[in-house]
Amino acid sequence: MTKIPLVALISGRGSNLKAIIDANDPLIEIRAVISNRPDAKGLIYAQENGIPTEVLDHKQFATRKSFDTHLQTSIDHYQPKLIVLAGFMRILSSEFVAHYQGRLINIHPSLLPAFKGLNTHQQALEAGVKEHGASVHFVTEDLDAGPVIIQASVPVLPDDDSESLGARVLIEEHRIYPQAIHWFAEKHLF
Ligand code: GAR
Repeated sequence: MTKIPLVALISGRGSNLKAIIDANDPLIEIRAVISNRPDAKGLIYAQENGIPTEVLDHKQFATRKSFDTHLQTSIDHYQPKLIVLAGFMRILSSEFVAHYQGRLINIHPSLLPAFKGLNTHQQALEAGVKEHGASVHFVTEDLDAGPVIIQASVPVLPDDDSESLGARVLIEEHRIYPQAIHWFAEKHLF
């Protein structure tokens, strides 16, 4: 069986990366994890699981374009069929996104198209919605606007703050990201 090679990009904690690693999907091979932050905790779990890691510190690059060009070179070295943004908190240039069209996916902590950008749980609380959640989507040039692959919703409870709501959403993120990747590997998404 040929496994789908993937590269994951992270910036921090890496709990979605952990969920993907722990899913142990026989259809995928995580070739590398690349972080734009040297202190990203997710790097440690990847290393403990024998996955090659790289750090490409965006602060070392003068422009977004130069960072993206180097990132692209690092990723392409592993010849991935799928690039997974797992809490990667950098906006990517349109050239970068175009290079990976149809094979670059992201998880976003809201029911898109609602609450794009940052602080999504606070945005949901302020909007007074009854349901909130997470979305896995293809990345396109427009931020958080590409085609949705899977979503999961959770109730917003009367005494929620952004932390309690975010924790409820995160449980769903850890379920739907491995699922979306599995569908991609099964070629259900293209
Ligand atoms: C996750 O909640 C993910 O949905 C979000 O960052 C968190 C990363 O957590 N991503 C975005 O907001 C992307 N715009 P993790 O590092 O533990 O996976």
